Amino acid sequence: MNVCVVYYSKTGKTRKLVEYIKERLKESGINVNVFLVKPTREYFDKFLHLNPRILYEALMRKPVELINSDIKLENCDALVISTPVWWGAASPPIYSFITKHTGKYSNPVYCVTTADLNVDYASKLRRELEDMKYNVVDCLSVVDPDKDRDKLDKLVKEITEKLQQRS
Ligand SMILES: Cc1cc2nc3c(=O)[nH]c(=O)nc-3n(C[C@H](O)[C@H](O)[C@H](O)COP(=O)(O)O)c2cc1C
Repeated sequence: MNVCVVYYSKTGKTRKLVEYIKERLKESGINVNVFLVKPTREYFDKFLHLNPRILYEALMRKPVELINSDIKLENCDALVISTPVWWGAASPPIYSFITKHTGKYSNPVYCVTTADLNVDYASKLRRELEDMKYNVVDCLSVVDPDKDRDKLDKLVKEITEKLQQRS
C-alpha cells in the first residue's frame, strides 16, 4: 500500500509535520512517498507577511507554475495534502497542485493545514477539495506539530485502517 504525501513548506513547520506523519505511517508498514511541490520561482525568504506576491496569489487563488507536480497519482492508494495557511487560504503551490489534478484522483484524500492561529482552516480546505470532487475522508488543522501529536497519531491510525479495509 502506497501513501503519497504532497506538501509545501516555507519556514519548516509543515515539513516537520510531514516527516512525523511519514515516520508513523512507515511504522505501520505503509510505503510512503513524499513530494514537495514548489513554485518554479520561490518566494523571497524575508518579510513574507509583507510580500505582495504572496497576498495576491493567496487571495486570488492564482495558479503558480510548479516544480515536481507531475506526480503519478495512479500509484497512490491514498493522498495526504499538507500546506501552510497564507492569509486564510492554502498556500498557492498546494492550491495550484489540487487545481491541476481536479477530477483525476478518486482514492481517499486527507488534508492537514498548519497555521499560527487556532482556527479550523482545514475545514475550509476540505470544502474546496470536495468542490473539486476529491474524495476527502478527513482534514486536520494543526498549530504546533509537537503539541498536536495526538491528533496526528489519530489521523495516521485512520489512514492505516482505511487502507487495510481496502486491501
Ligand atoms: C504570508 C503569510 C500569511 C499567513 N497567514 C496566516 C493566517 O491567515 N492564519 C494563520 O493562522 N497563520 C498564518 N500564517 C502563519 C503560517 O500559516 C504558519 O506559520 C505555518 O505553519 C507556516 O508553515 P511552514 O513553516 O511550513 O511554511 C501566515 C504566514 C505567512 C508567511
